[in-house]
Formats: sequence, C-alpha cells, structure tokens
Amino acid sequence: MLLLLSLLSTLGLAAPQLGTSPWGPNVSSTMLRFGCHQLVIDRIDPLVNPGSLPSPHLHQIVGGNAFDISMPHNTDISSLANCTTCSYSEDLSNYWTANLYFRARNGSYKRVPQIPNRLLFGDDFTTKTDGGFVVYYVSGGIGDVTAFRPGFRMLVGDAGRREPQGLRNQTCFRCYTGPDFGGDDKAPCVDDAVDFEGLPNKMCWGIRSNVLYPTCWDGKNLDSPDHKSHVAYPVETGPHTFTGLGTGGQCPESHPVRIPQLMLEIVWDTSLFNDPDEWPEDGSQPFVLSTGDTTGYGQHGDYVFGWKGDSLQRAMDGVCFGANCHVLESQSLEEAKRCSVSSRVGEEVDGWLDTLPGNPDIREKK
Ligand SMILES: *[C@@H]1O[C@H](CO)[C@@H](O)[C@H](O)[C@H]1NC(C)=O
Ligand SMILES: *[C@@H]1O[C@H](CO)[C@@H](O)[C@H](O)[C@H]1NC(C)=O
Ligand SMILES: *[C@@H]1O[C@H](CO)[C@@H](O)[C@H](O)[C@H]1NC(C)=O
Repeated sequence: MLLLLSLLSTLGLAAPQLGTSPWGPNVSSTMLRFGCHQLVIDRIDPLVNPGSLPSPHLHQIVGGNAFDISMPHNTDISSLANCTTCSYSEDLSNYWTANLYFRARNGSYKRVPQIPNRLLFGDDFTTKTDGGFVVYYVSGGIGDVTAFRPGFRMLVGDAGRREPQGLRNQTCFRCYTGPDFGGDDKAPCVDDAVDFEGLPNKMCWGIRSNVLYPTCWDGKNLDSPDHKSHVAYPVETGPHTFTGLGTGGQCPESHPVRIPQLMLEIVWDTSLFNDPDEWPEDGSQPFVLSTGDTTGYGQHGDYVFGWKGDSLQRAMDGVCFGANCHVLESQSLEEAKRCSVSSRVGEEVDGWLDTLPGNPDIREKK
C-alpha cells in the first residue's frame, strides 16, 4: 500500500484512503510501465501504408522483430516474432510514432534523440534503454478489461492534422524543465496548464509526448479501414480514463468491451538544441515532426498487438505495477538490445540533413 501511495503521488494522482481503491470497488488494479528500446527507425508503416517502401514519413518503432513493410492481418504476431526490445519478453507487439527533428536557421535538420524516462518503481531497465520509449497498460482490476485479441491493431491521432482539435486529452506534449525531469508531476494529457496539444512554444530541457489509446472496443473487428472506428473513448471522460487508471468512464453501446488503457510516453532530449542563436528569428519554435508538422497536432501512435498467449490478460488481472509483474516473463537489457530489425529503406536519418527523410511538405500553423 505504501508503494501504491507513493506511486500515486508521483503520478500526481490523489492518494487513496487505506483499504479502498481510487479506481473502483477492488484494490487489484494494474499499471504496467515498461521501457522498450529502439527496434529500428525506418520510413515504413505496416498499419497505414502496408506494402509501401518507402511510406511518406519516418517512424521510430519499438517491440517485436516481426515488424515489416506489411504485417499479415488476422494473424498472431507473437508467432511471427522471436524477440522484442521491451523488458517484458512476452510482448512481441509493435508500437510506433513520428520522430522529432530540429530545424536550424540555415534550414538543415537534425534528429532529436530519444532518452530513457525517469526511474519509477525501481525499474532499472527503463532508465537504460537506447532510444525507444515507455509503454503503459492499465486495468482497473480483475475482470475490468478484456485483453486485445491476436490480430488486433489500432491508431490514435492523424498525421495530417495541423490545427488544434481540442484533443489534448489524446496526444499531448509536456515541457520538462531540467535533467531531474522537472515538470513530471501530474498525470499526462489532463491539465491545460502543463500539457499542450501542440509542441510547446518555449525552450524545454526535454519534450515528452504521450499518446493515449481508446479503451472501448466494438468486440468484433480486429481493425477497421481508418484503424480507429472499431475502438472508442469512454462516453463522458473521453481519453481522461488514464487519470482513473483504467476505470473511468462508461463505454458507448456501440463499443461495449472495455480494453486495457494503452499509453506511449516518449522523451526527446531537446536540451542539445537550446542555442537561442539557432532558434527561428520570428519567435516560433524550431522542432518539427518527421511528417513535416511544425505544430505537433499531427502526432500519432500506431499499435499492432502481439502479446503471447494470455500473457496480457494475466497481467491485467495480476495486480502489477511497473516492469516487475510477477505473472510475466522479463528479459535483461542486454537481451532486449540484441533484438533489432534492419532498416528496409536504409536512408540517412541522422546527421545534418537538407530535408526531412522523404521530404514531406513542411506545413506551418496557419
Ligand atoms: C529469429 O527470427 C529470425 C528471422 O525470422 C531468424 O533469422 C533468427 O534465426 C531467429 N532467431 C531465433 C533465436 O530463433
Ligand atoms: C546548419 O547549421 C547547423 C547548426 O549550426 C550546422 O551544424 C550545419 O553544419 C549547418 N548546415 C549547413 C549545410 O551549413
Ligand atoms: C477530449 O476528447 C474528446 C473526444 O474523446 C473531445 O470531444 C473533447 O473535446 C476533448 N476535450 C478536451 C478538453 O481536450
């Protein structure tokens, strides 16, 4: 319980009264939080642009080594992959988002490195990953959620979006103030004062991006043409479910099945680019997503489920926190780092570049 209390305060959540749960009728909630190091950085997208080599923009991908230009539908991905970059070795899923680039005054671009997230729950793995990011899965307790089925996939966000949509609660950015991860004192994507739907318009020590996936499923379709309409956010709370750690909100009748709250958390080390002489003279900020998006409104997250057998369901019902869930198998950082796939496109993505990979249109805020 003490662990629970300190973790809640770390997350900026209200502390529960002893003997009760802040998330619902039982005290058996689960919040997996685990690091996954970089699998590959590549300009392919098996969810939105299957078969395209290359796809329109660059992504950074973590998870299992079945990741490829196309990934077969209605297929158990965990039977195709044989290693993962995540600390939980039964998680052969893939997760990916856009990359972040810095644009210098001379118009050249440099990729902003992703750095390990801060220490929570004594989880050493997550503080030592090479690139990559942190993945969360939350359940309100035993029987609260139904784990995704083999073949399940989904998408959050819209890479083409350049205007605010009031969806700070689905994808958001936080400005870290210093190497102590200053500013990381509130649950993500909840508070307009600290989380922004677009890229922060000020100098940060680091920029954190959170992507919160829907928590309601139609119970039938493993995917849908837009990769979104088979899932939905709860009716009243919207994506704010996370603040209730998976129990908030009623699922709509059209999407009655409660699925785990999945969240991605990426930290970019922007401190390397805080020379005011290199920032735009017009007062705008210099970072741009690999989609050509200078606003950040087009941040998006892709997911292809690939947990082995019933491992995710066991974990969701297992009263687990962090990266040491007793009902799951873990691997060492060394093992995780041995897992990789080679870039299919094989283009230069680091170093100073004249254009972003794939040269997408740079679209500014209107
Ligand atoms: C994993 O899969 C790859 C590609 O499918 C294969 O080359 C490799 O030998 C496999 N490794 C193990 C340990 O099975
Ligand atoms: C552009 O500016 C960056 C940052 O000052 C510098 O490192 C890079 O070499 C420059 N690129 C070109 C093509 O001049
Ligand atoms: C939160 O998300 C919902 C969509 O689920 C949207 O209708 C609402 O406007 C959003 N609210 C805020 C404050 O971002």
